[in-house]
Amino acid sequence: MKVTVSRKAHFNAAHRLYNSEWTDARNANIFGKCSNPHYHGHNYELIVSVKGEIHPETGFVMDMKVLKDLIKSEVEEPFDHKNLNEEVTEFKTLNPTAENISVVIWNKLRAKIEKDLELNITLYETPRNFVSYNGDMS
Ligand code: NI
Repeated sequence: MKVTVSRKAHFNAAHRLYNSEWTDARNANIFGKCSNPHYHGHNYELIVSVKGEIHPETGFVMDMKVLKDLIKSEVEEPFDHKNLNEEVTEFKTLNPTAENISVVIWNKLRAKIEKDLELNITLYETPRNFVSYNGDMS
């Protein structure tokens, strides 16, 4: 029997979607307002879900206090109120789309969560646009 536990988190960040291989005109055509050279912000909402067996002694899949602290140290502190392109190492050469941000967050958390637990990330860039990643490499 496997059970999923989830924690919601939030961060505000600025970004610009931009491919340095392309002309400004092509960037503007593909990314529209999101390619504004002066950046723009989003209120990102994050849902981190962990799936696994219930531990017989604790009754937990994972201690939610541990998960909360991991999200704080791995996501909120490095990303909140930051310019993702300029201030976050992972996005120096990686376009900070919601897709790429999700993969970066998943990789950071994956390294800190027990291997027998499954991890899924859902990231809302707007209330209506959101992406999910579970480590699927296929
Ligand atoms: Ni944007």
